[in-house]
Amino acid sequence: MTLRDTLEALKNEALEAVAACGDIKDLQALRVKYLGKKGPITEVLRGMGKLPKEERPIIGQLANDVRAAIQAAIEEKQKALEEREIQEKLASETIDVTLPGRTQPKGNRHPLTAVIEEIEDLFIGLGFSVAEGPEVEKDYYNFEALNIPKDHPARDMQDSFYITEDILLRTHTSPVQARTMEAHQGKGPVKIICPGKVYRRDTDDATHSHQFMQIEGLYVDRNVRLSDLKGILTIFAKKMFGEDRKIRLRPSFFPFTEPSVEMDISCFHCGGDGCRVCKQTGWIEILGAGMVHPNVLAMSGFDPEVYTGFAFGMGPERIAMLKYGIDDIRHFYTNDQRFLQQFKRA
Ligand code: PHE
Repeated sequence: MTLRDTLEALKNEALEAVAACGDIKDLQALRVKYLGKKGPITEVLRGMGKLPKEERPIIGQLANDVRAAIQAAIEEKQKALEEREIQEKLASETIDVTLPGRTQPKGNRHPLTAVIEEIEDLFIGLGFSVAEGPEVEKDYYNFEALNIPKDHPARDMQDSFYITEDILLRTHTSPVQARTMEAHQGKGPVKIICPGKVYRRDTDDATHSHQFMQIEGLYVDRNVRLSDLKGILTIFAKKMFGEDRKIRLRPSFFPFTEPSVEMDISCFHCGGDGCRVCKQTGWIEILGAGMVHPNVLAMSGFDPEVYTGFAFGMGPERIAMLKYGIDDIRHFYTNDQRFLQQFKRA
């Protein structure tokens, strides 16, 4: 075989191999094999010294042409393979933006929390601030400082969860009154509401729970009068239960207020004519209140000759039950989704 034939055969072999190649790595190997320093073309060029002088430029030219042809074929193939790789990548990494998303079930505020926050907002708007106190409370603040003597039935072991002789789970939020007044060191005004959990040794049923919420209110200043209490409670009743609500105050008794009252609102269901919601009376009992007892003011460092005040305490569960027609207090604490989901805001 002449050198010319060898080069020709080499070219054909290389071009065929490149054409058949389907992989960038293999192509790299072909480049090394045919065009590398130890490749056959280099070898031909090296052996040129043995050729007759006049053939050297012809074979040299031919070798260069073969090399250029193979080089061009490899480059073209390289481009094609790179392009194919990009297209494959694009195809495999395509994101289908039309796929539906995975739905995350959304929670909503607990109806009791919503009512408490509504009441808080209302009183904050009337100049009250929010105060809190411990749920594990001293007997002194829960009873003594509230003018509840040692032999008062409210202190009965039946009603309270005692932890030691002096410490119990608070039975109402009224101890926050005493704590806040004490912290004010005899200087008014004190204008607070205190929402929080309270505990009583009750057997749970549709209207009783051993743990429930209360919202306490306290306003102590010079010249606070019963008419101020009535005004505040009227605003509260109208905002919570409708603008045409009327209120009435009935005489009552609490050891820490004098006089003490219970507030009723005109029935929001029948307007006062009598229905099953108001048990045919036209009125619905909402909360207990009164003028802060002079003993309570004095025990917490306020001079009852200078300061007067009113206090009230309500059960937000009862208010939520009335407002939303909920028939069992246990719904607030059993976390049944079928109940809770009904209070989802649109
Ligand atoms: N603490 C009373 C209760 O638990 C409610 C109340 C608070 C009454 C403040 C009058 C004034 O029933």
